[in-house]
Amino acid sequence: MESKTQKRVFKNIGVLTGGGDSSGMNAAVRAVTRSAIARGVNVIGIKMAYRGLIDNITEQLTPISVSNIINRGGTFIYSDRCKEFNSPEGVKRAVEICGKLGIDGIVAIGGDGTFRGARDLTHSGIPCIGIPATIDNDITASDYSIGFDTALNTVIAVADRLHDTCESHGRCNIIEIMGRGSGYLALYSGIACGATEIITNEFLPKKADDSVTDPNARSLDEEHAKALLDKMLKSRQLGKRSFLIMVAENMLPVKTTIQETGVVADGRKFPVSVVKLVSYGEALCEYLNKQMELMNSGKSIIETKFMRPSHIQRGGVPTFRDRAISSLMGDKAIDLLMLGKSNLVVCMRKDEITSMDIDFALEVDRLFKGKTTIEALEKDFSADDIEKMKAIVEEKRASFYDIYDVNRTISL
Ligand code: F6P
Repeated sequence: MESKTQKRVFKNIGVLTGGGDSSGMNAAVRAVTRSAIARGVNVIGIKMAYRGLIDNITEQLTPISVSNIINRGGTFIYSDRCKEFNSPEGVKRAVEICGKLGIDGIVAIGGDGTFRGARDLTHSGIPCIGIPATIDNDITASDYSIGFDTALNTVIAVADRLHDTCESHGRCNIIEIMGRGSGYLALYSGIACGATEIITNEFLPKKADDSVTDPNARSLDEEHAKALLDKMLKSRQLGKRSFLIMVAENMLPVKTTIQETGVVADGRKFPVSVVKLVSYGEALCEYLNKQMELMNSGKSIIETKFMRPSHIQRGGVPTFRDRAISSLMGDKAIDLLMLGKSNLVVCMRKDEITSMDIDFALEVDRLFKGKTTIEALEKDFSADDIEKMKAIVEEKRASFYDIYDVNRTISL
């Protein structure tokens, strides 16, 4: 085997998994551990992500302690979204614990929150490397994040079962798909399951003239819902029996006012209006059923049901893709540390495992998600960097919309 270049000497490297867990995290911890130990470096598993650093909860990892975990979902060193770490005092405490334990480098596996922690630690003198892992696949710097494929396959398994029963009963099923602010999981599972429609905030944002002023809520887009209903009815005429609709959880919930009956102490009843938030998928389900019934004097032509697979999407045996990419990324993270590099995130770009500066990666992510502007970036980044960011964002958007368009063309 070709020997690997080593420019910096480490005694102990810490490894942690942060944010929402994802299948493949264990395979990445295994690769980091074995790759570091093969180069004579001890590995300390930091439990519950940054909480483990603040509260000093760690475990020595050995080639054997990471044995037989490549095939397990979740993360055996646990995860946490540690709020205390998001303060200068939290970072200071973490640096102190690193000093106490002799940790002189860290591999942080997770999403953007985990990378912000890695950046803060690097700036405080502990070199860190990030590895993207989240079922949301929303790390703009990387074409792929660990756990996405397993989550997709889980959604496909759920949707295929629903498809069977929808076909038998001539029904439609709306499935609410995780992804936090991102529609990737809904988009990819939608095209893979033959969804009649994929609804994500990227494709169906809240309209400027929406009367709901609450920034965290919206109205049902009736124009879109009506077009969907027409599409389903047309397809039914052609003989199509089953329909699946993927709704991403990044669709804001719908604000509705419903009439309820209040009761006073003496038992008298009175009508009250209650404002409620319902998920977009549930609101759409209610709309479709109501409209179908109206059209057919009370009898639904195509009955629609709603389901939320929720955290089922996060667990399960990692797929080949998640095991293999985790292994390669884990080894790459150790390569980078040994070369004396830090503040980098390992990423996959055009099927190649490479790396990108964390500050650059976090900002390109914010640009893609509309959380920053070119003007704001000009303060901290060179014109050349900004051009590179724009190119990444454009390329990502184009491929996202391409998939959506193809699905529209081939779905009935
Ligand atoms: O980021 C992964 C994710 O599963 C999102 O898709 C989802 O919005 C969120 O985490 C759920 O978080 P929690 O596990 O804290 O409920």
